[in-house]
Amino acid sequence: MNLKIAVLPGDGIGPEISKQGVDVMSAVCKKFGHTVSYKYAICGADAIDKVGDPFPQETYEICRDADAVLFSAVGDPKFDNDPTAKVRPEQGLLAMRKQLGLFANIRPVETFKCLVHKSPLRAELVEGADFICIRELTGGMYFGEKYQDDDKAYDTNAYTRPEIERILKVAFEYAMKRRRHLTVVDKANVLASSRLWRKIAQEMAPKYPEVETDFMYVDNAAMRMIQDPKFFDVMVTENTFGDILTDEGSVISGSMGLLPSASTGESTPVFEPIHGSWPQAKGLNIANPLAQILSVAMLFEYFDLKEEGKLIREAVNASLDANVRTPEIQVEGGAKYGTKEVGQWIVDYISKA
Ligand code: IPM
Ligand code: MN
Repeated sequence: MNLKIAVLPGDGIGPEISKQGVDVMSAVCKKFGHTVSYKYAICGADAIDKVGDPFPQETYEICRDADAVLFSAVGDPKFDNDPTAKVRPEQGLLAMRKQLGLFANIRPVETFKCLVHKSPLRAELVEGADFICIRELTGGMYFGEKYQDDDKAYDTNAYTRPEIERILKVAFEYAMKRRRHLTVVDKANVLASSRLWRKIAQEMAPKYPEVETDFMYVDNAAMRMIQDPKFFDVMVTENTFGDILTDEGSVISGSMGLLPSASTGESTPVFEPIHGSWPQAKGLNIANPLAQILSVAMLFEYFDLKEEGKLIREAVNASLDANVRTPEIQVEGGAKYGTKEVGQWIVDYISKA
């Protein structure tokens, strides 16, 4: 296969983990005889500093014309502490989602046996938990009509039938490929938008008779996720609920530095770690590259290159088993490995496999 990849390293630790992702991608392509080419583009605070726009037109075009985007992270504290800032790095992320039509955000919550003790939950609750959250990404309050003056403000949680149908379709199809259990998360006891979601899901469910579909209010789902994460297989929800629940899900595994995600939709798909730009760690060679590397595995799997994805997952597991780990998941007294060393170890594993 011939792969054209847009690489968006972004801010903070982004460039460091991006490099590890690209190196792993190249090693896998070499191993399996694929050709790959990379085009780099700016985004986030880096792009604001350079051209005043967190998602410039040129970056959009590079993404649009690629087969996939390998994205790292955006965000810089200098914007967080300035409430008057007119442009923010995060707007670049929202612009990318909207312009590429990335309506489906796939966030897997996987647990790694050797990290279970790092989870805030008891080991017996988390061990073996394995579910994915499908978050609608281009609708709802994030993009609905907004208003703000000094005395009043609102955000509108608007959804249309086609927007709901297309995301539910993705969710049902994922459920078919997995353990055939779909949980539709909403707040249908209070919100009109949720009632439409539930109505449409009920209409669609008979088309997927093998899938056991259940409905759960979001407050209950938040509780269930920490009481019994193994209950879930595929969960689907609207943008804002998904934002909140996926942060909750990400810590269940023991380290946020391990979870990748995919955003797919109308144009080029984007693969990125769940974590942010961790500006305090920039340049220190301590950031965990595994979430970025696993996002490369998701990229291959998206193109149905299963063996390629599998080899990356195997290499990541082997690195964890060999205690080749970045500081936040280091075993006490073990050797010290940085971002580059972990990445290199995985590249070597892949090359020798
Ligand atoms: C995420 C992030 C973004 C979101 C922010 C940075 C705009 O929290 O990807 O979950 O809220 O969607
Ligand atoms: Mn979030």
